Amino acid sequence: MERKDFLRTLGAGAALVITFPCLGGCSTDDGNDGNIVTTPTNVDFTIDLTSAEAVKLTNNGGFILKNLVVVVRNLEGDFIAASQICSHKQFDQVRFDSRDGGTFHCNVHAPAGSRFSQDGTPLVTPNNSTPRALKIYNTELNGDILRVFE
Ligand code: FES
Repeated sequence: MERKDFLRTLGAGAALVITFPCLGGCSTDDGNDGNIVTTPTNVDFTIDLTSAEAVKLTNNGGFILKNLVVVVRNLEGDFIAASQICSHKQFDQVRFDSRDGGTFHCNVHAPAGSRFSQDGTPLVTPNNSTPRALKIYNTELNGDILRVFE
């Protein structure tokens, strides 16, 4: 059977699946899903620390995600903010890990993902890839209003 005859027997839907296997989004080699996006720029927003969205910032070590930024109250009680977009391959999976004094991490790629200090310095990089810093944003507290900006 020739190739075109084979494809004709499968039908147009199957041919589309064979031709465009990633139309619905691809996952990584190790099976983790996530969105690949660009690191946010011109960041400038506020969070009312008395609002419901800020409940997780009440305790040291807590964090929230807003506008692709990880906003953290670190173990010392200071507010810090970093891009949610990992500098390794731009997956939006950066989170705060309060263990070991508090670091930013992304677990998308094996074996250990990426890990960054609170100032964005790369601490662990997957598979010896080129270390790149994590984008860090400024924070400013005025009463109960936390501003996150570049
Ligand atoms: S994108 Fe974060 S570890 Fe690869």
